[in-house]
Amino acid sequence: MAQRKTAILAIDQGTTSSRAVVFTGTYEVIAVAQREFQQIYPEPGWVEHDPEVIWATVRATAREALAAADKAGYAVAAIGITNQRETTLVWDRKTGEPVHNAIVWQDRRTAQTCAALREAGHADRVREKTGLVLDPYFSATKIAWILDHADGARARAEAGELVFGTVDTWLIWRLTGGAVHATDATNASRTSLFNIRTNAWDEALLSLFGVPAAMLPEVRDSAGDFGVSEAAVLGRALPIRGVAGDQQSAAIGQACLVPGEMKSTYGTGAFLLINTGSDPVLSQNQLLTTIAWRIGGETVYALEGSILSAGATVQWLRDGLGLIAKASEIEALAAAADPDSGVCLVPAFTGLGAPYWDPDARGAIVGLTRGSGRAEIARAALDSTVHQTCDLLDAIAADGVAATRLRVDGGMTANNALMQRLADLTGIEVVRPVQSEATAWGAAFLAGLGAGIFASLEDGRRLWAQDRSFTPDIAAGARDAGRAAWRTAVERVRTG
Ligand code: G3P
Repeated sequence: MAQRKTAILAIDQGTTSSRAVVFTGTYEVIAVAQREFQQIYPEPGWVEHDPEVIWATVRATAREALAAADKAGYAVAAIGITNQRETTLVWDRKTGEPVHNAIVWQDRRTAQTCAALREAGHADRVREKTGLVLDPYFSATKIAWILDHADGARARAEAGELVFGTVDTWLIWRLTGGAVHATDATNASRTSLFNIRTNAWDEALLSLFGVPAAMLPEVRDSAGDFGVSEAAVLGRALPIRGVAGDQQSAAIGQACLVPGEMKSTYGTGAFLLINTGSDPVLSQNQLLTTIAWRIGGETVYALEGSILSAGATVQWLRDGLGLIAKASEIEALAAAADPDSGVCLVPAFTGLGAPYWDPDARGAIVGLTRGSGRAEIARAALDSTVHQTCDLLDAIAADGVAATRLRVDGGMTANNALMQRLADLTGIEVVRPVQSEATAWGAAFLAGLGAGIFASLEDGRRLWAQDRSFTPDIAAGARDAGRAAWRTAVERVRTG
């Protein structure tokens, strides 16, 4: 029988879908399986997922992708996991049963708790230790909310009966049949409980947020040993060798390996990460400091700008307004708009992320005239993603961090007109890679490193290839006018 070729399975558990992608060791995709799942909105501003649905969709897609890889003659050697970050789960240590739905990163229910902590003067200390702002986005206040609202949960957590995990931890737990309760340093760095300087859970933060230490997973390197999946779960036992939050995974997949290299991923939200090397640079302009990866005990940091609504804005045009039937229709519709209409859409559906951090802001469309129609609104929706990216790059520049070109990935980057607009308004080169699966590839690459298939991160640079580059081509006056209109629109929705 012919020798089977080596492959790696990446599990990419995102906000709106679970995906499984099998890669060769040379960055080719052999199989992809995907399942969208239900978003639960119990109250305005609240967003939940059913943990069992997350698990069921991951298991089904992983099995499907593995079967396709078998058929194609590949032997999967390891699993890498990447995931929507911050989303918070609490479950029973013995039974594995969740005590509440997962509270999703977008959920704003703890906005008041965060405001009270800010008013009590805790913001600087939290930022100093975690690199994060005090915002409901992160896990800590979500864990406390579950402990205070699920029946008897706080007492059970204090007695050591309940455990916490972000989605990676939940999947590792289920894959290993409860044998491993672990996370990686990138996911830990999004909880508000992890000290990114000492690389350890921080006791003072645990007591500030009211989270018992016994609930926390062990924090491991992003490439390393996360146990072995139980044979019955995926039909075979496979070692889990790489784990990273999805944005960090995309940064690795895009080979942002040295300081100044950056990427922006356009999914439900959009997230720009710029490598700052071994230094945790603290932003003076409301960006986050986060762990990009920890490999071999060495931590590399990034500055991050988090945009809460990017692809979600297009979804809203489709599902909320019924302006388009399919997301892909937006490119042609926006192309028909009057470019000077002055219409601005601020997609603050769940507040504003970086650099504003205003959980109470809500969306608006401003500058409407009788000449404004569907096309102008579509263009303004796409432009909002571009302007938000510009806001992040302005903040990076104000922090004195030198940026090179911007590598982009995610569904929206297939839109050439949008990528050109991004180059025009940011004033820097925008580069799209051949392989659009940057997030999943990052996880597969980490697993390959952990399993010894790759020797070092540099292998990732060798495998990365450019599809197309977009260079700025707009008069400075037009750029400035567009930016000024956006800033005015943002000021109209801000609450703070
Ligand atoms: O921080 C949230 C982020 O990890 C979610 O990513 O791709 O599911 O929108 P995505």
